[in-house]
Amino acid sequence: MGFLLCFSLLVLLAAPYLEGGSAQRHRAVRAQRPRGGSSPMPSETTASFWVSISPKLMTVELGSSVWLNCSSNCPLLESPVLHTGLRRGLTLSGPNWVSFQLLDVRTWSSDVRCFVTCARVTRGATARINTYRPQSVILEPPVLEGREHTLRCHVTHVFPVRFLVVTLRRSGRVIYSESLERFTGLDLANVTLTYAFPAKPNDYGQLVTCHAHLNLDGLVVHGSSAPMALSFLTWSTRSKALASTCIAALVGILLAVGAACLRKYLLMQSRA
Ligand SMILES: *[C@@H]1O[C@H](CO)[C@@H](O)[C@H](O)[C@H]1NC(C)=O
Ligand SMILES: *[C@@H]1O[C@H](CO)[C@@H](O)[C@H](O)[C@H]1NC(C)=O
Repeated sequence: MGFLLCFSLLVLLAAPYLEGGSAQRHRAVRAQRPRGGSSPMPSETTASFWVSISPKLMTVELGSSVWLNCSSNCPLLESPVLHTGLRRGLTLSGPNWVSFQLLDVRTWSSDVRCFVTCARVTRGATARINTYRPQSVILEPPVLEGREHTLRCHVTHVFPVRFLVVTLRRSGRVIYSESLERFTGLDLANVTLTYAFPAKPNDYGQLVTCHAHLNLDGLVVHGSSAPMALSFLTWSTRSKALASTCIAALVGILLAVGAACLRKYLLMQSRA
């Protein structure tokens, strides 16, 4: 008895949901029916209908032209629609693909969308085009101050900054390297790296260079500075100054000692 009551209660509770569900199904069916009503759409076609754009991601030098291929498994009765802010060039097409040329890409990062309509259903695919600018790398002549060499390297027109790695080499060997991945800005940037390291007697004349690498999804853009010799000049002027002070002091001491000796000698002579 208790079980029956419980069961009917369940049915009562569930009834509105069951009704609501069927009403929704009706609505869904109505909405799916094509407006023209000529041919009901075979659901398998739309379910497996895809649009693809390739390549999905491209990294090109600023100002390049690129080709994007938009394809679908649905025969392209109407040409796919391309949404892009970039300038369009030539178009090539086949039975189920269209290749679009985009000219003179000058946006740092842009999304290109391709839409295909198949049996009144529209689907799209997105590709991203990123650009980079080859960087120029300038290493200032090294400065020797105190007991430290200071290197200052400028990398100009860097984009995108977060993929940049700046490396300093001495006689070909890496002495310092820094990744700028913490800089996530999307603007063109100038980067200055300053690095100081202790000077050693055998440093002078050794060549130092600065290198910049942009690691862009499998593409590495590399720039190097002209080599610079570790300075000796500043060091030698300083040591010359130090040496002359020492000599002056030494001469002074010698003179004083000499004078004292002479005085003592003269004194002894006069006593004798
Ligand atoms: C575009 O893609 C389709 C399908 O992948 C391929 O058959 C066709 O050759 C491509 N066209 C170009 C110009 O690459
Ligand atoms: C970067 O440096 C270049 C050359 O020194 C200069 O023309 C440019 O204005 C600088 N750009 C920025 C963003 O500071």
